[in-house]
Amino acid sequence: MQSIEIIYPDDWHCHLRDGAALSTTVPDIATQFRRAIVMPNLVPAVTTVEMASDYCQRIMEEVPSHNPFTPLMVLYLTDETPVQTIQAAKKSGIIFGCKLYPAGVTTHSHAGVTSLEKCHAVFEAMAELGLPLLIHGEVNDPAVDIFDRERVFIESHLLHLVERYPTLKIVLEHITTQDAVEFVTQAPANVAATITPHHLLLNRNDMLVGGIKPHHFCLPILKRKLHQQALLQAATSGNPKFFLGTDSAPHAQSKKEAACGCAGIYSAYSAIELYATAFEQANALDKLENFASRFGPAFYGLPINTDKITLTKSTWVMPNDLPFGEEKLIPFLAGETLTWKAIR
Ligand code: DOR
Ligand code: ZN
Repeated sequence: MQSIEIIYPDDWHCHLRDGAALSTTVPDIATQFRRAIVMPNLVPAVTTVEMASDYCQRIMEEVPSHNPFTPLMVLYLTDETPVQTIQAAKKSGIIFGCKLYPAGVTTHSHAGVTSLEKCHAVFEAMAELGLPLLIHGEVNDPAVDIFDRERVFIESHLLHLVERYPTLKIVLEHITTQDAVEFVTQAPANVAATITPHHLLLNRNDMLVGGIKPHHFCLPILKRKLHQQALLQAATSGNPKFFLGTDSAPHAQSKKEAACGCAGIYSAYSAIELYATAFEQANALDKLENFASRFGPAFYGLPINTDKITLTKSTWVMPNDLPFGEEKLIPFLAGETLTWKAIR
């Protein structure tokens, strides 16, 4: 196939950061997507409707003129989030989900939830209002191996959560294991998952063989090849529970290439081309439009986009770096040749 046309896609999970970073991240995401679910793990975290509204405005200031991009804001849940905040979030019209970070599990998650029990009233309210719960599905138990943290979260928390709140919409974000694929496939229709381009294109060998590659380090961490294959299978299966979420998560070069490097891969510069590469490898380009442009809005109860993009077979080289405030940002697959290019 030399070219395909698809409905303009959306990103159901990304990190745009704040301040000077927005002048890089927002134009990139707004070129790639019509809408994006914007993660709230700023410092301080986006815990109120007012903070989400202010953040939304700062994002909108960086959207290029005549670009119809809409940020879909998300609230960061803490042990103390009041039910009134959930009601206000729903009413605001700018907030489309609440994010559950088990405390300490990833970047800027220290203000997250220490016990799901503390959120009982909040989950009930979200179920009633139809506000989706977006979950970073890993445990933060030092006794649990980092490669097992997603599986253990599913077994010890998620199974119970899904049973207890049968009408709560749940997105298990950035899934990385066959266990997660099986769990979501078997769960009721109110449970879905996002899949990143890097978990489709890489496995842990890509990060660790021949030298450690800090720009391939993310959380949940890359897993074995069999898990990568399970994700590819899920993404290309045509099952509407699996849809696009880049988890594009920029960190300055100096924070990645460090003795204690940050987790996060910046894919927003070229996300749809990366997904096209993965889908082509699975011989499933015909499944890309549903995954990228239909299943996400269907789950969130939003209309699909009305315009289209064309992806064509043509080679180009990913930039070595991008500006990032005073620093540099190394995009995913920097300096490598890609074989798909989007025409918009
Ligand atoms: O790799 C990651 N980066 N995973 C996360 O869960 C958070 C994200 C970030 O914000 O940097
Ligand atoms: Zn994320």
